[in-house]
Amino acid sequence: MNDMRHVTDEMRLKLAVQKSGRLTEPSLDLLARCGLKLSRGKDQLVGFGENMPLDVLFVRDDDIPDLVQEDVCDLGLVGLNVLEEKRLELASRGHSARFQPLRTLDFGRCRLSLAVPEGTSYEGARSLRGRRVATTYPFLLEKYLRERDIAAEIVTLSGAVEIAPRLGRADLICDLVSTGSTLQANHLREVATVLESHAVLIRTPLDLPPATDEWVQRLLMRIDGVQQVRESKYIMLHAPRGALPEIRRLLPGSESPTIIPLEGCADRVAVHAVCREDVFWETLESLKKAGASAVLVLPVEKMLA
Ligand code: PRP
Ligand code: ZN
Repeated sequence: MNDMRHVTDEMRLKLAVQKSGRLTEPSLDLLARCGLKLSRGKDQLVGFGENMPLDVLFVRDDDIPDLVQEDVCDLGLVGLNVLEEKRLELASRGHSARFQPLRTLDFGRCRLSLAVPEGTSYEGARSLRGRRVATTYPFLLEKYLRERDIAAEIVTLSGAVEIAPRLGRADLICDLVSTGSTLQANHLREVATVLESHAVLIRTPLDLPPATDEWVQRLLMRIDGVQQVRESKYIMLHAPRGALPEIRRLLPGSESPTIIPLEGCADRVAVHAVCREDVFWETLESLKKAGASAVLVLPVEKMLA
């Protein structure tokens, strides 16, 4: 029996994740890269962290801000689109959001966009005047229209927004676009961006017991490490000593590299460096021009600053 099972329930962190959707797989992938081993039976709504006092609750993404600010969950992984819509909805009732953003994450990139049926013209926001716009994001859309001083009718739906124009319920839509395949399948053309979005880690406004909070900090450190290595590369090359200033300039986002003398060649050295940005072919070509040889670029598995 795993000793984590002896830890009392109140001390286990509860993290809300989208049950099924665009964020589900990358969220679980992030947690796995942070070292979390999750046991989850089929259709189970809770995943049990076997090696950390952390359980994952699988819920509808739209419910995540409330679950976190009402302290049902301590943490949540959710899209900025959902958070911003919630923030505006709360503001409309004179409340302010209590969930606290902890980290911007490098996945779940998408945008809330306006899209018109193919063959319909669109000449900027003024084309929206007097039109019916279907959306599941009425507050973000309202703000967009208000900022442009456009009077249009917002048709609030709970889903299947992309078929609203075909059903005659709206003239155009305001919906999330990620790959664009939903729009394409429904013969819709994206014409303007309302909000750029990505996944965000949020936490409860309440203080957590010190032992639990320590796990939040550990998780954050691991998330930072995971996000850093996704872009980072370890680069090794040989170079003439005289070319070192130029080579250091070419290495993207690297701190001071390790310089190692090469046996039997006084004027060439080996350079090892961690680059905190992706290394492109163009960079390698420039390095070669600067005199580098035997260039190797390796992925970085883990990093702890
Ligand atoms: C969004 C949106 C579209 C789809 C667009 O749904 O409502 O259906 O993604 O993605 P695509 O451009 O790659 O086709 P989401 O996954 O956010 O689910 P939800 O709106 O039901 O929460
Ligand atoms: Zn949703």
